[in-house]
Amino acid sequence: MNGIKIRGTGRGVPGKIVTNQDLENVVDTGDEWIASRTGIRARHYCGEGETFSSITAKAARRALEDAGVSPSEIGACIVATLSGDSLVPSAACVLQQALGLPEDIPCFDLNAACTGFLFALHTMECLLNASPRRFGLVVGAENLSRLLNWEDRGTCILFGDGAGAAVVECREGWPSISAVMGCHGNSELLHVPGAETGVHSYISMEGTKVFKFAVEAVPWCVDQVLKKTGRTVEDIDFFVFHQANARIIDLAVRKYRIPPEKYYKNIAEYGNTSAASIPLVLSELRQQGKIGPGSRLLAVGFGGGLTWGGCLIEFA
Ligand code: UT7
Repeated sequence: MNGIKIRGTGRGVPGKIVTNQDLENVVDTGDEWIASRTGIRARHYCGEGETFSSITAKAARRALEDAGVSPSEIGACIVATLSGDSLVPSAACVLQQALGLPEDIPCFDLNAACTGFLFALHTMECLLNASPRRFGLVVGAENLSRLLNWEDRGTCILFGDGAGAAVVECREGWPSISAVMGCHGNSELLHVPGAETGVHSYISMEGTKVFKFAVEAVPWCVDQVLKKTGRTVEDIDFFVFHQANARIIDLAVRKYRIPPEKYYKNIAEYGNTSAASIPLVLSELRQQGKIGPGSRLLAVGFGGGLTWGGCLIEFA
């Protein structure tokens, strides 16, 4: 199988910023508690005139621009999300219309919660191997502020909105991203009810149990990707972890002795943006010049489902 590499990235960040202090007026919480337990200081919410679709289109347009690829060259479009504007049409079909993507390509949504972007990259690699076109559009986007229960301080302070996108290219001879992934069906630890249940669609989570799961899932993914690719920690230019809790990232960094210049945290600004979290990191790293052509990244995600996954991402 031919592998994919990232050609360009982009992000759509909603303008409304909500700080921990702002939330002190809404629930019984405090900046000290939130910052020390999670690393979060603020989060962005879609405000006036902003929707899931508008931030998603912004991220995708920027990624196409960054890659120097036109919409007509895209061979497949996947949006990883659990919070699109509509169930039908899918967020990917809405995006296809907004960007004018070709009509003879698959456009669809993928829900693997916070691991969605990595599941989507793996799926895209498979799709492009069977496509006459070389490029694919992979987006991770969420509008989670609509799914928050303002009576549950254990979850409402954690999540934010955002969109990140990557244009990937598939070429003969390029190595596969060597994705590893897994699922363990569980409705108790992390749950968002669907439309048919008749109850409000709020995020509920048993945080401490999910934390324990994450602390095991992250090293499993790192180890499996290194094993599958025959690489060592030293071979990796950058580690990209799902931004769910700064303490989870710190534990991984300590375990693998990853130096500060080789990992990144933006959870302080965004909170947990689920499927958008990894592509938001990629887009910021690229803009700051910390990664670019030739960079080799190891990305790890974990979250509801339960789901987990990792892969080796190279920049073209
Ligand atoms: O992206 C998907 C995957 N998600 C994750 O990976 C999330 C993983 N879990 C976590 O990040 C952490 O478990 C949380 C940040 C969600 C919670 O941290 P914790 O250290 O596990 O706290 P806890 O839930 O055990 O709560 C400790 C205390 C409780 O009070 P008592 O019972 O000890 O008196 C909570 O009621 O903190 C209280 N608490 C809060 N206090 C102030 C819970 N939420 C808040 C809050 N402000 N917002």
